[in-house]
Amino acid sequence: MSQGISKNIISLTIDEIRNYLKSGQIRVSVVGIGRIGLPTALSFAHSGLPTIGVDINAKLVQMINSGNYPIRDEPGFDKIFEDVIKNKTFTATTDIGEAIPKSNLIILSLPTPMDKNNIPDYSALISVVKSLSKLLKPGSLIVVESTIEPGFVENELISLIENNDQKLKAGKDFSIATCPETANPGEILSDFKKLPRLVGGIDTRTTDIVSEIYAHVFGVEMIKMSDCKTANAAKLTANVFRDINIAFVNELAILFENLGIDIIQVLEACDKKYNFETHYPGAGVGGPCLPVNSYQILNSARGMENNGMLRIIRAARETNESMPYHVVELLADALNEAGKSVKGSTIAILGLSYKPNVRDIQLSPAEAIIKRLDQLDAKIKIYDPYFKSSEIFSHKTEDDLVSTITNANAAIIVTAHKEFRSIEPTLFAAKMKTPVLVDARGLVDVHAAKKAGLIFRGIGRGGV
Ligand SMILES: NC(=O)c1ccc[n+]([C@@H]2O[C@H](COP(=O)([O-])OP(=O)(O)OC[C@H]3O[C@@H](n4cnc5c(N)ncnc54)[C@H](O)[C@@H]3O)[C@@H](O)[C@H]2O)c1
Repeated sequence: MSQGISKNIISLTIDEIRNYLKSGQIRVSVVGIGRIGLPTALSFAHSGLPTIGVDINAKLVQMINSGNYPIRDEPGFDKIFEDVIKNKTFTATTDIGEAIPKSNLIILSLPTPMDKNNIPDYSALISVVKSLSKLLKPGSLIVVESTIEPGFVENELISLIENNDQKLKAGKDFSIATCPETANPGEILSDFKKLPRLVGGIDTRTTDIVSEIYAHVFGVEMIKMSDCKTANAAKLTANVFRDINIAFVNELAILFENLGIDIIQVLEACDKKYNFETHYPGAGVGGPCLPVNSYQILNSARGMENNGMLRIIRAARETNESMPYHVVELLADALNEAGKSVKGSTIAILGLSYKPNVRDIQLSPAEAIIKRLDQLDAKIKIYDPYFKSSEIFSHKTEDDLVSTITNANAAIIVTAHKEFRSIEPTLFAAKMKTPVLVDARGLVDVHAAKKAGLIFRGIGRGGV
């Protein structure tokens, strides 16, 4: 690996940056090599820049260094992983003190979850940033890819680096920018190559340098924002927009069930209008992004008069968080039609992941559904192709779909995994003890379900 440039990267001209990129002399550390950080680190390494991945998870680091790729549900991941391991442009370590002093560019891809009171938890980011001042090579550049609320760099992170014995000054001894990641799990590597990237630095020189480096690595359009907080505001706005729109269709879905209207027909018709953007109702909104991002925006308004008037975001969260309970209500109603109650019935849960075709249960609505069914004394069987024979949410999971639904009193499709799209309604009818099906993801052809003799309920599927 190249030793990297000894010069102060933040004082280079764009031409000099281009030359150092071409000759692979800019050394990179990516701190936090999880779902986003690892493919990011691999992409930097793949572009020819010597890259070190830093993580506190020793097992993960050991696995990577021994050539085993840890992310199995991202198309293209195996290929890029094998390439960079073969080319020796990437290594992983648990020792941040070893990596940072060798690096010109430090990318932070640390988790930013929330606590049980829905308050954003930036502790990983804060602890890493605190340690940087003693480790940074003069003139290093820090890029925060983690999702944070607007103003967090300006109001918190900069002072964590400046206020210590080293007396570093932002813009002179180091610089910092945000380049929030917007890729979608399950499509991360293809999104990396096509989605424009937002970048906002503490000064224009920093924004320009980061844009140049990221354009070199990813070959995508760089959207230069005026500062860090505006870049973070754009990232959050795009995700909160989705959270709110999903809440809107969830509310309509419940109304339409009562009015005997099928929401899918309604949405398909609306979609014909050029300025309508279709979102679908469902069992709830999970994952490390949407729910957390809404709470990050809410948190950024703390202390303001009327909390910055963010009533719609708060209400959207309430609606989306209520959807798992609505799923259980649909189940109780369908079981009632079959002469059964939830108590004592065997319920097959199909899907645990918060989104289709990925192995990820962070804030998944499946958890609330399972907890509610436990409270109601249902017997639960769970099948998810990404979590076979495991122990999740205090239940053992099955390793086979058919045995999961066999003799069940009801099945609930919680996640729209592709494997569930192809199940014939007749299979449920043939295998289950009572043919009750709740489709929380709009996968099932309702007419086929009825023809197969199922007692069917679907979110928003009134009148079908
Ligand atoms: N997953 C997504 O869909 C997605 C999409 C866009 C943006 N993001 C954002 O990207 C950031 C990272 O998310 P992720 O999904 O990759 O998280 P992740 O949990 O998959 O990975 C985070 C990694 O950081 C490591 N880590 C934690 N504390 C550390 C420390 N002190 N030092 C070194 N390593 C540490 C963990 O061991 C883990 O491997 C978050 O801010 C998230 O909101 C995530």
